[in-house]
Amino acid sequence: MIGDQKVLFSGMQATGNLTLGNYLGALKNWVHIADEYLTFFSVVDLHSITIRQDPAELRKRARNLLTLYIAAGLDPEKNCIYYQSHVSGHAELAWILNCFTYMGELNRMTQFKDKAAKHADNINAGLFTYPVLMAADILLYQADVVPVGKDQMQHLEITRDIAQRFNAVYGDVFTIPEPYLGKTGAKIRSLQDPEKKMSKSDENPNASIYLMDDADTVIRKFKRAVTDSEAQIVYRDEQPGIQNLIDIYGACTGKAPEEVVREFDGKGYGEFKMAVGEAVVAQLRPLQERFAQLSKDKAYIDGIIKSNAEKASYYATKTLRKVQKKVGFPDRIR
Ligand code: TYM
Repeated sequence: MIGDQKVLFSGMQATGNLTLGNYLGALKNWVHIADEYLTFFSVVDLHSITIRQDPAELRKRARNLLTLYIAAGLDPEKNCIYYQSHVSGHAELAWILNCFTYMGELNRMTQFKDKAAKHADNINAGLFTYPVLMAADILLYQADVVPVGKDQMQHLEITRDIAQRFNAVYGDVFTIPEPYLGKTGAKIRSLQDPEKKMSKSDENPNASIYLMDDADTVIRKFKRAVTDSEAQIVYRDEQPGIQNLIDIYGACTGKAPEEVVREFDGKGYGEFKMAVGEAVVAQLRPLQERFAQLSKDKAYIDGIIKSNAEKASYYATKTLRKVQKKVGFPDRIR
């Protein structure tokens, strides 16, 4: 809470190409609930360098991601859309919270284990303490709610644990955040291996729908999507490929899984896949058009970057000063 306003914080990494999972699991929900909160949507570039990045490429992707937030329908006059690296409070609070986080807790993080396995040549300390930086992001703004996909739930839990531990020592410093999961789309799976989540870093481009994929590519990928030999459109765990297509169609059209099942009762997989592909194309087209338009307006985007970094810094500094005082750092002399 800030004053009497409820706060929402969320962020995304500018690493790799954004997928339909990022959109349906997160971005679309952000737009949906943003009006109810004082909001902060960050392009979390500090997190990105836990994996080696090409500097020019990272800068370009970060700007594209920030533009995409706006293209998805977040009004940057009302929502604070900014780069994490422009607000030094994130790193400063992360350091303090590192001293309130246990190695054992971090060792249990499944995303760390996955990423460490994938990047065995670069298991750096930043990768290990990544969830602490994420906790700092959220707690810095006293966020009440954090809309994310299912894969981030464990990070939300550790954020709550760190906040509660800190509060237990120093009093009510941090708001304890709640995760917000959308009804549909919280876990979009790979189109090639429905046991896995759809991921920006998947090596097989057919496994993911990228937000900038053109219509033909989207349809082709859905036609090739791995399903099963049951030949029935039912929503059950034993048919993860079909379940995923139902989730995607439902998230795009606003329909519950039961409704989707009824709509396609007795239809073949081929017809269903086409319908899902078309529903996705219809979602992505306006997003892509607005993105193309906005990208041309350099001065407008630059203005947003500047003013929103200032706004975010204002709120971040408030919490940071409070925390610094609590832990015993000397007062600043004015
Ligand atoms: P990132 O960049 O991997 O993903 C951004 C958001 O997309 C969601 N998501 C998915 N949802 C459904 N199905 C999928 N297949 C799928 N793949 C990704 C993620 O859950 C996420 O909500 N650590 C975070 C970024 C972050 C953050 C934060 C998030 C940094 N600080 C503070 C919230 C609050 C990450 O890497 O997300």
